[in-house]
Amino acid sequence: MIKPHGSDKLNPLYVIDAAQRAKLVAEAKNLPSIVISSAAAGNAVMMGCGYFNPLKGFMNKRDALSVAEGMKTSTGLFWPVPIINVVKDASAVKGQKRIALKDPNVDGNPVIAIQDVEAIETFTADEMKMMTQKIFRTEDPEHPGVAAFNSVGTTVISGPIQVLSFSYFEKEFPETFRTAYQIREEMTKAKWNKVVAFQTRNPMHRAHEELCRMAKDAVKADGILIHMLLGKLKKGDIPADVRDASIRKMVELYFPPNTVMITGYGFDMLYAGPREAVLHAVFRQNCGCTHLIVGRDHAGVGSYYGPFDAQTIFHNEVPKGSLEIEIFEADHTAWSKKLNRVVMMRDVPDHKPEDFVMLSGTKVRQMLGAGQPLPEEFSRPEVAKILSAYYQAEDAKAKK
Ligand code: ADX
Repeated sequence: MIKPHGSDKLNPLYVIDAAQRAKLVAEAKNLPSIVISSAAAGNAVMMGCGYFNPLKGFMNKRDALSVAEGMKTSTGLFWPVPIINVVKDASAVKGQKRIALKDPNVDGNPVIAIQDVEAIETFTADEMKMMTQKIFRTEDPEHPGVAAFNSVGTTVISGPIQVLSFSYFEKEFPETFRTAYQIREEMTKAKWNKVVAFQTRNPMHRAHEELCRMAKDAVKADGILIHMLLGKLKKGDIPADVRDASIRKMVELYFPPNTVMITGYGFDMLYAGPREAVLHAVFRQNCGCTHLIVGRDHAGVGSYYGPFDAQTIFHNEVPKGSLEIEIFEADHTAWSKKLNRVVMMRDVPDHKPEDFVMLSGTKVRQMLGAGQPLPEEFSRPEVAKILSAYYQAEDAKAKK
C-alpha cells in the first residue's frame, strides 16, 4: 500500500489505549483549559485520525507562515495549509506547560485533546493578511473560509497534542466516519492496492457517479473511496446526513458490490479551492489512496477560483516528488444528449453547450423544493427523492 505522507508508518495522535485515555481525561480535569475554535477542533480530529500525518501537533508561528507562504514547514516538510490552534485569548494558560483543549461543537465542551504548550505567539495584522491571501487567494470577508479564518483570533498556541475524542463525528455518523488507519485496515482486508478517492461535500448526481467510474477504469483501480466531508459547511449546503443517505442509495443501486467504500472525515470546509485540493491529496495519501479525483471547481465557492485552478496548482506549485498520490484530472462532466451517456467535455469536442444536460445549483434546489422530478439524465430518481424530501421539509419549516 502507498506510504503515508512524510513517514513510513502512519502515526495517528488519538490515544488508542482506553485506560491511557481515561487517565489523560482525568488529568485534563486539573489542567487549565481553553474552548478552541471549530477549525482547531477539526484539525485535532484530523491529527487524531492520522489524516494529517506526520504532524505531531499544532504549528507555531514560523511554521504557519512558512506553510502559508511556500507550502513547507521550517524543517522542509511539504504541507499546504497551516494547521494551527488560534485563540482570541490565551490568558487561561497561565504559564502552564500542559493544557486541556475543549470541544466547541459538543454540549458541555468535553476535552478533545491535551496540548503541550511550546509557544504562545501572536500574528500581526500583516501576517494574517498574507496567510489569508496565500491560502484563499482572496481577502474578501464575504468568502466563507476567509471569514472563518479571520474570526477566531490571532494568538497561536503551538505544540504536540494527544487526542482524546473524535468530537461529534463518531456518534453522529457511526456508519460513515472513519479514521485514516481504519480505512487502511479496510483496504488491506479488501485487498485493494490501487484506490481512487472521491472528495465530496455535495450529494452525488449522475455526473459524479460517472466520474468515479471513469476514474476507476482509467487508472485500473481496485476500488473507489467516496470520502465525504462531515464537518461544518456554509449556509445553504446540504447537511451531511442527507448527503450520506443519498450517496448510500446511489452506491447500493448503481455500483457492483464491494467496489466502493463510503466514508467520511471530520473537518470543516475551508472553501480554499487549490490549496484545499492539495490538502485533500495529502490526507487521501495518508488513508492509503493512490489517486484523487480533482474535477471542476474542486473545493471552490462562488467565483473566487478558476474552474481548473485546483488542478494547475499540482503542476505549478507542488514540487515534484512532494506527494506519492496521483491526481486524476477530470474535465467538466455532464450528460450528452447526442451520445445518451455522461461524458467529459474534452472527449467530445464536436458538442455545443446545448448538447449537454446541465442545471444550475439554484435550479436544482428550486425543482427539488417544489417536488418536481429532476431529469433522469441529471440525477438518479432514488437520489432525487431523498433530496426532494429534505428540501420540502426545509421549505415547510421556513414558511412556519
Ligand atoms: S468539493 O467542494 O468537495 O470539491 P463537490 O462535492 O461538488 O465539491 O465535488 C466533488 C468533486 O467532483 C470535485 O473534485 C469536483 O471538482 C468534482 N466535480 C463536481 N461536479 C463536477 C462536474 N460537473 N464535472 C467535473 N467535475 C466535477
